[in-house]
Amino acid sequence: MRVGMLTSGGDCQSLNATMRGVAKALYKMYEDVEIVGFEDGYKGLMYADYKIMKPSDFSGILTKGGTILGTSRQPFKLMRTPDENGLDKVEAMKHTYRKLKLECLVVLGGNGSQKTANLLRQEGLNIVSLPKTIDNDLWGTDITFGFQSAINVATNAIDCIHTTAASHGRVFIVEVMGHKVGWLTLYAGIAGGADIILLPEIPYDINVVISALRERTRQGKRFSILAVAEGAISKEDAGLTKKELKEKKKSGLVYPSVAYELGAKITEMTGQEVRVTVPGHMQRGGEPSPYDRVLATRLGAEAAKLIQNKKYGYMVAVKNNEIAEVPLEEVAGRLKTVDPNCAMIQEAKMVGISFGDE
Ligand code: F6P
Repeated sequence: MRVGMLTSGGDCQSLNATMRGVAKALYKMYEDVEIVGFEDGYKGLMYADYKIMKPSDFSGILTKGGTILGTSRQPFKLMRTPDENGLDKVEAMKHTYRKLKLECLVVLGGNGSQKTANLLRQEGLNIVSLPKTIDNDLWGTDITFGFQSAINVATNAIDCIHTTAASHGRVFIVEVMGHKVGWLTLYAGIAGGADIILLPEIPYDINVVISALRERTRQGKRFSILAVAEGAISKEDAGLTKKELKEKKKSGLVYPSVAYELGAKITEMTGQEVRVTVPGHMQRGGEPSPYDRVLATRLGAEAAKLIQNKKYGYMVAVKNNEIAEVPLEEVAGRLKTVDPNCAMIQEAKMVGISFGDE
């Protein structure tokens, strides 16, 4: 039996650990299983760039960050657009799958990759997918692998900032990844003891942010730390159309990111010294956390079980601390965002964290 495997989209810390889980379980279930590893995500499937993996390829990779198969972003919206040589990408992927006589394809990916996985399912391929992303924004699962490890890195960044912020009596903004959602910022912000947390799901009022900073100064606190999601948006900007937002950006100063724009505004309104730190892709690097290693192993083993049961068209997920499976058609195209009224945010507000909204 031949099983295809690929990692797609932005990398994260426990991709290798998850592939190892799938592979080890499959090698134990079947003596004759051959795993075909596609290089650089769906690109490898399109252009038949693959290698036949050996059991030893999956040894010693539990703690290794990144992905041994390589990855790439293949935007879903371009899947139906032929490549520069006129190649029909979907037909090419189906052709490789059939030529290699694969029993199924295991896809480790985030939102866009799950959409493509669902498209391939609709085209008749046997798919099992796994929920990868530091953003934790996949519908149908309580948690994605990579998320916990990224929280560790982002929290560590905020921890490091604390000492220098306190010494200098400065305002510090730490910009946290997460694409359009605030999960990573919310967890790292609380874990790192941020005073203000700004999320895309709760458009902030600059005047509320400034009052929170002034209140800290009034209380004799010499420094403040803001954890700001890369997708955070002000109330004012949230009220604009996409076109108006574009125009506004064009007419003003172009900042490299939301954190710098906010920093300039804070200095302008308070005269306080502000510094911005962007840990960026560090948040996706390094070793997976112990939690993620366990999660990866469990998800991987359960993916192998789905293959054993020939139960295709599902993403392996976590629901209420149990491993579950969700139909791919339910996952594809849906984003899991932070509920602004959730208990966690209410509790964070109770201990004095401002979300810039009240
Ligand atoms: O989806 C993971 C993520 O790290 C997001 O948090 C971030 O917005 C994006 O990927 C960055 O993408 P790239 O690696 O293409 O710069």
